[in-house]
Amino acid sequence: MKELKILAILALFTLITYIGIEPFAHTQMSPAVADANFNYEQEDINLAKVRIEEAKAALKKAEDNLAKNRADEDLQNAVENAKQEVETRENDLSAYGELWTQANEIAALEGNAENGAELFIMACASCHGLSSQGMESPFDAALSSEAYGVAVPDLSLSGAVYDKKFLSALIINPAQALKVSKKFNDENPLPMTPFFGMGEDLNQEVADIVAYLQSIASQDVSDKEVFETACLRCHDVKYDAFYSPTEKAALKGYMGSNPPDLSIMIRSRGAEYLENFINDPQKKLDGTAMPRVGLTKERTEQVVNYLENIGDSKKDERTVVGIGMIIFFALMAFFAYMWKEEVWKELH
Ligand code: HEC
Ligand code: HEC
Repeated sequence: MKELKILAILALFTLITYIGIEPFAHTQMSPAVADANFNYEQEDINLAKVRIEEAKAALKKAEDNLAKNRADEDLQNAVENAKQEVETRENDLSAYGELWTQANEIAALEGNAENGAELFIMACASCHGLSSQGMESPFDAALSSEAYGVAVPDLSLSGAVYDKKFLSALIINPAQALKVSKKFNDENPLPMTPFFGMGEDLNQEVADIVAYLQSIASQDVSDKEVFETACLRCHDVKYDAFYSPTEKAALKGYMGSNPPDLSIMIRSRGAEYLENFINDPQKKLDGTAMPRVGLTKERTEQVVNYLENIGDSKKDERTVVGIGMIIFFALMAFFAYMWKEEVWKELH
C-alpha cells in the first residue's frame, strides 16, 4: 500500500501548511484586532486604552535598555519619546471621554428639524450642498479641492448612512471624531471647522442639525450611494468607471498619500478586513491617513457589498463551479478505482 502512504504524507503536509503555517503567517502579517464595534463610544475608549497599554510597555522596554547603559544619549532620547507617547495616548483617552460624554448628552435631547434647517444654512451650507433640497455647495469640486484638498461631500444622504451619535460628535469636534487629531490640530486645522453654536444652547443646536439631516435623508439608499456619500471624495473605483471628483494632486497634499483605487481591494483584503478597517482604520493600521467615517453597521456592510460586486462579481459562480468540480473528481476517482480493480483482477 505504498500509494496510500504517499497520499497520507501528502495530506499531512498539506494540512500542516493549511491549518498551522498559513494562519500563523496571517497573524504575523496582520495582527488580530478586536472585532468591528459599531458602538463608536466603546470602540474609541477601548482602543485608546489598548494604545495606552502598548505605549507603557514600550516605555518600560526603553527604560530597561537605558538601565544597561545610562550614558547612551540615543537611549535617553528613546525614553523621553516613549514618555511623550504615553502622555499623548492618555490625552487621547480623556479627549474621547469628553467627546462621547457630550455626544450622549446631545443624543438624550429631542432635536427640532425645522430649527435644524435654519442652523444648517448658517453653519454648514457655506461648505456643504444638499442636492436633494436643491441646495448646491458654493464650492464646485475643483474649487473645493484647491481650498480644502478634498471635494466637500454633499450631505443629502448623511442622515441615513452615518451613525447618529457619530454625527453629533463630528459636528462638535470633527478632527477627534474622524480620528485625525494627531495630524490636524490648532497649527494645522482640519478644513471642516468645529461648530461652536449660534448663541442658543450648543447641545440643543447640534441635536437640531442632526434631526434635520435625518429628516431629509431617504432611508432607501443603494450600496453604490453609500459609497458615493462616504468614500468617493477620496477613492476611485475604476472597474465601475466611478471616479472621485477631487483633484488628485490636491488630495495627495491633503492626505499625505494617494488613497488607493478600491476596484479589487476585496480580493486582496477580504470582506472581514474591509469591515474592520472601515469601522476603525486606526485599529488596523495605526497612524493611517484614512479617517474613520462613522457609518452604521448596515451601511458598512453595504459598502463592502458594493466592493464585492465590483471586484469579485464571479464569486458565487466560482463557488458553484468549485463544488461541481469536486463532485466530478470524486466520481472520476471512484470509476478509476473500479476500473483498476477490474483490470488487475485477472492478473492476480
Ligand atoms: C469650512 C467648511 C466646512 C463647514 C463649515 C462644515 N464642513 Fe463638514 N466637511 C467639510 C470638509 C472639507 C469635509 C471632508 C473632510 C475630509 O474628508 O477629510 C467635511 C465632511 C463632513 C461630513 C462627512 C464626514 C464623514 O464621516 O465622512 C459630514 C457628515 C459633515 N461634514 C457635516 C457637516 C455639518 C453638519 C456641518 C455644519 C454643522 C459642517 N459639516 C460644516 C467642510 C466643512
Ligand atoms: C478623506 C479621505 C478618505 C475617505 C473619505 C475614505 N478614505 Fe479610504 N483611504 C484614504 C487614504 C488616504 C488611504 C491610504 C491610507 C494610508 O496610506 O495610510 C485609504 C486607504 C483605504 C483602504 C486600504 C487599506 C489597506 O489595507 O491598505 C481601503 C480598503 C479604504 N481606504 C476604504 C475606504 C472606504 C470603503 C471608504 C468609505 C467608507 C473610505 N476608504 C473613505 C482616504 C480616505
